[in-house]
Amino acid sequence: MKIRSVTLVLPIAVLFLFTGLSLSLGQTVPAAPARQAKPAAKASSADEKARALLYKMTLDEKVGQMVQYSCRGNWEFTETVQKDWAAEGMIGSFLNVTGAAQTNGYQKYVMENSRLHIPLLFGLDVIHGYRTIFPVPLAEDCCWDPDLLEKCASAAAHEASAAGVRWTFAPMVDVSRDPRWGRICEGSGEDPFLGSVLAAARVRGFQGKSLSDPGSIAACAKHYVGYGAAEAGREYNTTDMSEIALREIYLPPFKAAVDAGVVSIMSAFNDLSGVPASGNSHTIREILKGEWGFQGFVVSDWASVKELVSHGYAADDPEAVQKGVLAGVDMDMQSGIYHNYLADIAKKNKVPMKLIDDAVLRILKVKYELGLFDKPYADEEKELSAMTTPENLDLALAEARESIVLLKNEKNLLPLSKNIKTVAVIGTLADSKKDALGAWHCRGEEAMEKVVTILDGIKAEVSSQTRVLYAAGVSPAAEDAPQNLIDEAVNTARQADVAIVVAGELQNMSGEAASRTSISLPGRQEEMIRAIQKTGVPVVLVLMNSRPLAIPWEAENIPSIVESWFLGHTQGSAVAQVLFGDFNPSGRLVVTFPRSLGQVPIYYAQKNTGRPGKADDKWTSRYIDSPNTPQFPFGFGLSYTEFEYANLEITPVTPTTKEGLKVKADITNTGKNAGTEIVQVYIQDIAADITQPIRKLVDFKRLTLAPGEKKTVEFNLPASKFGYYNEKGRFVVKPGRFNIWVARNAADSSLFAGFRLVE
Ligand code: NOJ
Repeated sequence: MKIRSVTLVLPIAVLFLFTGLSLSLGQTVPAAPARQAKPAAKASSADEKARALLYKMTLDEKVGQMVQYSCRGNWEFTETVQKDWAAEGMIGSFLNVTGAAQTNGYQKYVMENSRLHIPLLFGLDVIHGYRTIFPVPLAEDCCWDPDLLEKCASAAAHEASAAGVRWTFAPMVDVSRDPRWGRICEGSGEDPFLGSVLAAARVRGFQGKSLSDPGSIAACAKHYVGYGAAEAGREYNTTDMSEIALREIYLPPFKAAVDAGVVSIMSAFNDLSGVPASGNSHTIREILKGEWGFQGFVVSDWASVKELVSHGYAADDPEAVQKGVLAGVDMDMQSGIYHNYLADIAKKNKVPMKLIDDAVLRILKVKYELGLFDKPYADEEKELSAMTTPENLDLALAEARESIVLLKNEKNLLPLSKNIKTVAVIGTLADSKKDALGAWHCRGEEAMEKVVTILDGIKAEVSSQTRVLYAAGVSPAAEDAPQNLIDEAVNTARQADVAIVVAGELQNMSGEAASRTSISLPGRQEEMIRAIQKTGVPVVLVLMNSRPLAIPWEAENIPSIVESWFLGHTQGSAVAQVLFGDFNPSGRLVVTFPRSLGQVPIYYAQKNTGRPGKADDKWTSRYIDSPNTPQFPFGFGLSYTEFEYANLEITPVTPTTKEGLKVKADITNTGKNAGTEIVQVYIQDIAADITQPIRKLVDFKRLTLAPGEKKTVEFNLPASKFGYYNEKGRFVVKPGRFNIWVARNAADSSLFAGFRLVE
């Protein structure tokens, strides 16, 4: 992280310093077109080529590159997306057009009929796979395995690109600490550091070594910024936060994506401390394009610039356009307002031509980098053979297995024996292909037949003598499901040696526009689980969901609980391999599971407060009806083996604010199975000018150990790991006392040391 000084409140005139412009909203600017330096005769880099092309463009053609429309279904122009616009160069990009024939159809029309033959860029939400569906992002993150995430993003990119889609609206890197918010399933959970590592991995995966490789697609880090802090977890709601919270919690994953070379960023829907994110010069022009030097382009979220009017930040559409462009939103998604008003506004000098040129250059540069000018079409012959290949399904299975988090395993009920006589599988989710695919399943439904449900997976995993019984029981969607469904589930369980109950949420209960006011198991599922548990047959609860759930009764009473999330095509195989011991679970939570909704927001990096909560002292920061602690902490997950942590060493014992710290510990597999441990390093700055969290994750390592094997893990923590943003928005590293933990999760204190950082 660069350490630099930032002024928090800037007069609007200063906002343009970074682009070499000076302008205030009411100020007039030189008449369009701006004087442009004649480009070099022979352009070679994407930047030079883009400049050379820009030189030939009319104002309308420039605006056209800043316009994106959505089209679905067969390739055809309609009333809302007209043929003439495409011919006139008034559309630069489409979203939601998929398939080689469809994308080629539009592309051919534009390439053959527009004056400058500028190829279209096709964008799509390729969030956790294109046709092969990988686990939902919140699940993938539980692998804590950036290399694997990179490979999976790359596989998704290859499929998408074969279908003519060269741009994904991913990764979604919004930090969120509110499980009510349905979109928590798309991000990396609650931690900015882990979120940053995984954001960078996904960008590398999508964009490959070079954007021009045919299998690479442009990535788009979204939603910039603060969207995950929606008040009350209500979708699209307002966010309000300090500059410190913005810089410490919400910006880091975007910075990491930029450092990893992401070529586009999506501006968010939310109001951010009074200035909507899609009209926010401070975050876009000043921080993103200024401070960080981001060279790619910013696309709005769906009509989010137009929504500046509903926010009460612009009086009408033209003013929204003006504010959007001034803030730095280079491309307008879907609303058509740049198309309708931008050229006019520019002619009236309300937006400087230099800003339009800058936006167009950014967009053209990415089109050149993608190689679209040389190769605008997808290969229709090869499209199908790129989809759901055995290699991609294997990769999806590897990731699905690593995503699973074992939450409880009393008396080692798991793994089950494959020779067990009778297994009862219960729950509609156990037999649902659609739910396994998760909320953003892109074109996954086209390969629905390849989804392995949990019921299928269990049947394939057990011995040929094992009887597998199935009862659907009650669906998560049915608030008033009939009692006979519960009775039938109970009767089925009674006939078995173990009951595997699959419960959770439907896939459309999380994702966009799917906030909930309850995070309990919906419908009558808990009643059903209680009734099954009463039979005395051992119960394994397998959760399928995509947000943290509050399951206090189950956590107390059910012996084994497996968080399986929505794992995509290979859900059933992955779950069965964990249940029957072919895979030793290694997933660790990336978001805290509360005991109840009343604890939300709850996250490990809390502040100590002036009165840290004490169970026996009423006048401390606590509840009178619940412990402060979560049900399952951040970083938590069990294994079928045990790991012992010992011999923490830190050197130097007194580090300086420049040199950083080396940390070592011995980890031994003391159990009987090989297993993977995720060793986590947390620090606490005990006293600072800005109060710091009681713990902050600063590093982690995956370690696979054979039974009895010991390894020494080593971490190098540069001095910047001990810094923070002060009240002036400056990142500072200051001397003082620190605590450090090498731990299994955020609540584990087995290895702990204190040290003093000196000048
Ligand atoms: C709105 C969503 O917020 C965003 O994440 C998505 O990329 C766009 N729609 C396009 O589908």
